[in-house]
Amino acid sequence: MAGLLEAALANPWRTLDTVLDGPLHPGGTEATAQLLDRAAVGPGTRLLDVGCGAGDALAVARDRGAEAVGVDPAPTTDRALQGDATALPVRDGTVDVVLAECVLCLTDLDAALAEADRVLRDGGRLALSDVVVDGDRPDVPESVADALCLTGARSRERLTDRVEAAGFEVEDLLDRHADLLAMRDRVAERVDYEGLLGVMGDRGQSALSAIEELEAAVEAGEVSYVSLVATAQG
Ligand SMILES: C[S@@+](CC[C@H](N)C(=O)[O-])C[C@H]1O[C@@H](n2cnc3c(N)ncnc32)[C@H](O)[C@@H]1O
Repeated sequence: MAGLLEAALANPWRTLDTVLDGPLHPGGTEATAQLLDRAAVGPGTRLLDVGCGAGDALAVARDRGAEAVGVDPAPTTDRALQGDATALPVRDGTVDVVLAECVLCLTDLDAALAEADRVLRDGGRLALSDVVVDGDRPDVPESVADALCLTGARSRERLTDRVEAAGFEVEDLLDRHADLLAMRDRVAERVDYEGLLGVMGDRGQSALSAIEELEAAVEAGEVSYVSLVATAQG
């Protein structure tokens, strides 16, 4: 049983993909479509999806006529390049919109924002969604924090501050807490935490406590989710 947990955490997004059977961010494809609307993605828009995973957002963007390419260190679609948010395999100023859903909290934010700015044309747009925290991050094991995109989560103010420091002007920021609550419920419906972890002794119990603490923080809004659109100032 312990081996099963290690295997699940070794590739957390593939595991979540199996559990959720769809996009790995709160709000799913509907939230992606709204974010693409706000970033004015339409026919001919050159879009780069950073941390594209299985490519669900690429499909949404292509359906509206965008020329969409993904980048991921471990892409699970053959329509993406292998690469990292902090070293994008794309030339300067060649992209209209950089999309980054539930990924920048997993990497060096400042380096990733500098890369987004480099590949965007002047006036290009950054469309991102991410986990945010109010106060301290709940104390969960690193592997669980990674799987839930909590690792580098920061406050809303800190996130917008870093985006603006990287040379963008934030156009709008939306709270997506309801989407996070719905995703939490969806995962809880599909994963029997108590059954899985309850048989793993002390380690299982401490993981269960961490999950309960996290669920309470999500319920209270101390852990939340936001999306924002920002324009590159050139
Ligand atoms: C929570 S998933 C989100 C996937 C997709 N954007 C979505 O919303 O369904 C996080 C994704 O970020 C990718 N990732 C992790 N570290 C990264 C990095 N340094 N640069 C780019 N992508 C990264 C993972 O491989 C994974 O596909």
